[in-house]
Amino acid sequence: MKQKIEQLLSEVEAFTADSLHKVEEFRVKMLGKKGDLTLLFDEFKQVSGEAKRELGQKINELKNKAQGKISELREALENTTFTTLALDTSRPGTACNIGTRHPVAMVRNEILNIFSRLGFTVAEGPEIEDDWHVFGALNFAPEHPARDMQDTFFIEKKEDSDNPILLRTHTSSIQVRAMERQQPPIRIVCPGRVYRNEAVSARAHCMFHQVEGLYVDTNVSFADLKQTLLYFAKEMFGSDVDIRLRPSFFPFTEPSAEMDVSCSICGGKGCGICKGTGWLEVGGCGMVHPNVLTSCKIDNTKYSGFAFGMGVERLVMLKYQVRDLRLYFENDVRFLKQFAAA
Ligand code: DAH
Repeated sequence: MKQKIEQLLSEVEAFTADSLHKVEEFRVKMLGKKGDLTLLFDEFKQVSGEAKRELGQKINELKNKAQGKISELREALENTTFTTLALDTSRPGTACNIGTRHPVAMVRNEILNIFSRLGFTVAEGPEIEDDWHVFGALNFAPEHPARDMQDTFFIEKKEDSDNPILLRTHTSSIQVRAMERQQPPIRIVCPGRVYRNEAVSARAHCMFHQVEGLYVDTNVSFADLKQTLLYFAKEMFGSDVDIRLRPSFFPFTEPSAEMDVSCSICGGKGCGICKGTGWLEVGGCGMVHPNVLTSCKIDNTKYSGFAFGMGVERLVMLKYQVRDLRLYFENDVRFLKQFAAA
C-alpha cells in the first residue's frame, strides 16, 4: 500500500495539463467515486495497528497534494484562456445579420399605402379558387382561351366538374368575393399571388404577384378611374410622371384600357427600358362590366364601378430595373441584400 501511495504521489507531482478538460479527467481519476484515492481509502479501512497512523498521514498528504495540484492547474488555465482570448471589451461587437424586406413585398406595401390614403382598404382571397370566381362571374365566355389548360393550372379536370378548382390566374377573383360579400360602397385593393402555366424565363414566370383595385358606388365614372390612377402614378414614380390609357379588352370591364406611365428613367424621351417609346405598361383597368355586377347580385342600374389590376414584379422592375423575373423567387441573399437601404 505504501508503495502504491508513493507511486500516486509521484504521479501527482509529475502531472501537467494544457486544458481544463484534462484537469477534470485527472480529478476524476484521482478523487472521483471510483478514483485511485477513494479505492485507497477503502483499502485503508482494513489496516490496523502500528501501520495505520503512518499510512493515514501519507494518504492525507497525497489527497492534499492532489487537490492542491488540481486547483493550481485550474486557476492557471482559467487565467490563460482569458488572456489568450485577449478579450477587449472596448472593441465594437459583431453586427448581427438582420433580414431585409423582399423587393416584391416592399413595392406591394407601397402600392397598398398609396391607395389607403384614398380610402381603399385591403381585401384578400384564396389562391386555390374555383372557375366561377376566376372566370365565370367575371364574364369570361365558356370557351374563353384564358380558361385553357395552357394558361391555367387546373386542380380538378374541367370534364369532371362544372365549377372546377384551379389556381387563380389573377387577383380579379377577389373583387368577385368582395362584391358577393357586401353591397356598395366598396373600395378595396387586393394583393396576392397568381399562377399561370408558363415556361419560366427572364420575362415570364409561372407565379407572380398582382394588386387589384375595385371601387363600386353610385355615379362612379371613368374620370374617377383616371384621376385615381394618375394620383397613384405620381405617388409611386414622382410628381412629374404622366399616365396614358390605351383602349383594350377585358371580359370583365367595358370600356377597358391598358395603363402606361411615362418612363421615369428617360423622362419620356425614349430609352432602353421603355424601348424608345417613352411609356411603360403597368396594368389593365376599366369600368366594371354590368354583367359582373349582376353576377355578384349588385344592381347595375343603381351602381357603377371601376377596376384595375397591376403586376407587382413589373412595378419593381420599373422602380429598381431588375429585369430577370427569376431573381425574385430564387431568394439569393446577394440579390435581396441590395434592397436593405431601399
Ligand atoms: N386581371 C387582369 C390580368 O390579370 C388585369 C386587370 C385588367 C384587372 C383590367 C382589372 C381590370 O381589374 O379592370 O391581366
